[in-house]
Amino acid sequence: MSDQIKRNPHPDFKKVEASRPAWDDASRFRFTRTVDPDWAFGHGSDGSSSSSKHIAIDPYAPGRPDVFNYKLLISGIVPRPIAFLSTRSADGSSTNLAPFSYFNVMSHDPPLFVVGFASGIDAAVAKGAKDTLRNLVETREAVVNIISESFLEAANATSIDAPYGVSEWDVAGLTPVRDCETVRCARVAEAVFSVEVKVDELKEHGSKRDPSNKTSTIAILEGTRFWVREDALNEEKNLIDPAILRPISRLGGISYARTTEALELPRPKFEDHLGGHEGFEKLKNSKRS
Ligand SMILES: Cc1cc2nc3c(=O)[nH]c(=O)nc-3n(C[C@H](O)[C@H](O)[C@H](O)COP(=O)(O)O)c2cc1C
Repeated sequence: MSDQIKRNPHPDFKKVEASRPAWDDASRFRFTRTVDPDWAFGHGSDGSSSSSKHIAIDPYAPGRPDVFNYKLLISGIVPRPIAFLSTRSADGSSTNLAPFSYFNVMSHDPPLFVVGFASGIDAAVAKGAKDTLRNLVETREAVVNIISESFLEAANATSIDAPYGVSEWDVAGLTPVRDCETVRCARVAEAVFSVEVKVDELKEHGSKRDPSNKTSTIAILEGTRFWVREDALNEEKNLIDPAILRPISRLGGISYARTTEALELPRPKFEDHLGGHEGFEKLKNSKRS
């Protein structure tokens, strides 16, 4: 698949990069107002949505390469958090570090995370398609580290197609800390937030074109210990400061994004803010007139 992806859109990447503005080191996380602080129930969008028509795409349309669905999905489901996974082999002789953006938190009680591997288990174990998955199958444990701006290049470097046994820690130049309490893998010292996890479930899926060809494995991981850098954590130990976490997310292709601007919106209550059923009827009737 990797030949078909044409992942790097620029024949001369360094030239294109040099033509862009430099990294804005002064840019710091800040809150702004919302687009329309006067928005009221029923107001819909700000009117800037285009009237351009939509195109329906059948993911399995004849002649459509599977890799097109990969490219489309990773450019449309954005921004995606990235699990920077640290694992080790069953005998502890090799360690692995790699980023995975088919990732999210799914529940807090218990703390559950999902990571998607573009590989079946056999391919990962026998052919070394994804060493991280192989280690997860063998040891059923890992550390999820969240990528901060300060080590993005290093984290990206770990996605290198290194053969099994080559440590991406060395490739990246990141620092392993071996103080985890519930797993035997190292956490990334440079990460502001890390989570020790154990495998809850591994579920394979076959390709729709050939179900015997296992092309995907979804790992459900249970968080067993959280690690937060002290200066990023509030006193109650229930909030991580985004200005210190400085999280990096993934967009389509080879693009990453910073989170430098946010806005807040209170969660509306049906009775208090909409006026209950009476308010709702009024709103409906005002739209009709
Ligand atoms: C930002 C980023 C996100 C990625 N997300 C995924 C993913 O969600 N699933 C996947 O199978 N591969 C993903 N990859 C590719 C893996 O990181 C890559 O195959 C890596 O070599 C796997 O390492 P391993 O063989 O040590 O497990 C991603 C790569 C990058 C750079």
